Amino acid sequence: MSPIEIALGERSYRILVGPGLLADAGAWADAPASSQALVVTNTTVAPLYAQRLARVIAARHPKVHIVELPDGEEHKNWQVLNRIFDALLAHGCDRKTVVYALGGGVVGDMAGFAAASYMRGVPFVQVPTTLLAQVDSSVGGKTAVNHPLGKNMIGAFYQPRLVVCDLDTLATLPAREFSAGLAEVIKYGPIADMAFLDWIETNLAGLMAREPALLAHAVRRSCEIKAAVVGQDERESGLRAILNFGHTFGHAIEAGLGYGEWLHGEAVGCGMVMAAHLSQGLGLVDAAFVERLTRILRDAGLPVRAPALGADRFIELMRVDKKAEAGEIRFVVIDKPGSASMRPAPDALVRDVIERCTATA
Ligand code: NAD
Ligand code: GLY
Repeated sequence: MSPIEIALGERSYRILVGPGLLADAGAWADAPASSQALVVTNTTVAPLYAQRLARVIAARHPKVHIVELPDGEEHKNWQVLNRIFDALLAHGCDRKTVVYALGGGVVGDMAGFAAASYMRGVPFVQVPTTLLAQVDSSVGGKTAVNHPLGKNMIGAFYQPRLVVCDLDTLATLPAREFSAGLAEVIKYGPIADMAFLDWIETNLAGLMAREPALLAHAVRRSCEIKAAVVGQDERESGLRAILNFGHTFGHAIEAGLGYGEWLHGEAVGCGMVMAAHLSQGLGLVDAAFVERLTRILRDAGLPVRAPALGADRFIELMRVDKKAEAGEIRFVVIDKPGSASMRPAPDALVRDVIERCTATA
């Protein structure tokens, strides 16, 4: 399969998508060579894939070290980030040392931030092993850790040199995690490509069964859309914000329940239902669109009713969203199916959406 190019001038790189890449030395030819490499992974992914990765990159790095972080969104914080710096320093890693992020979005965001800041920046390569990371978080250079007061609040834009998505790694992903990844795949339809949403709807059962050809198309098309958006607006001065459809409500759910309670993709899926209702309330889309998106998300195994945080708490949490300006919350809304933009919304409408979308026990 041909690589997907992400065009960012001197920071351009390739995304490889296909089966068997962890066993294919040719796939790693674009990774920078260096005397040392550090593979950042976690305690779940390490026993599955760390040795395979270490073997396939050994030709590019005589010494490959591995650091295993604890698994979970609740560990995506400053204290655990420090373990990556501890490992880099303990092994005497220099400015050319390549950091590999092997795992889901949590490992990718943390390893990326460590690479951005160790010695003011060392090269890094994303090796995403969850569906969510393959279709979203490994591409585009957003890196971060959480703060108790807000999700992904401390971080940097820092592009990888290469992204390698080995589709075979998705075979070991738990079903709940797979559904969470589907939320970000589905997201690309309403914001950018309704033909892709049609394709997802038609092929959802096969996707849920992880049929290889369907997975390959879903990951490729998602990466193509994301690459096109990031290529136009790397630092989110405008357009890139559309990739956050559902995230303002979703981040509030994650922070409000405590990180790790709902998976990120689950919170985003439910957040998309809420943002679709908001778009309807603003007169942009009709009820049929909202119902269709809700049905697809539900069929993908995702929660579509919000937890009962209460409207006041929801709104308080949404005010710390990175898109907020001077305390005013801004939402990504669907202008028309296949096209999105960011705007504020009347408080009464936001409260109404929260109340209508909240699960009643
Ligand atoms: P995750 O990293 O927590 O991974 C999910 C679970 O799957 C973990 O338990 C992990 O150990 C396990 N796992 C990973 N690969 C596996 C495999 N192949 N087989 C079996 N188990 C495997 O979660 P995620 O959904 O990948 O990522 C969510 C994170 O990504 C959030 O922190 C979110 O903020 C971030 N994110 C970042 C961006 C970005 O642009 N940087 C975009 C979207 C999401
Ligand atoms: N996941 C949102 C972004 O990369 O901008």
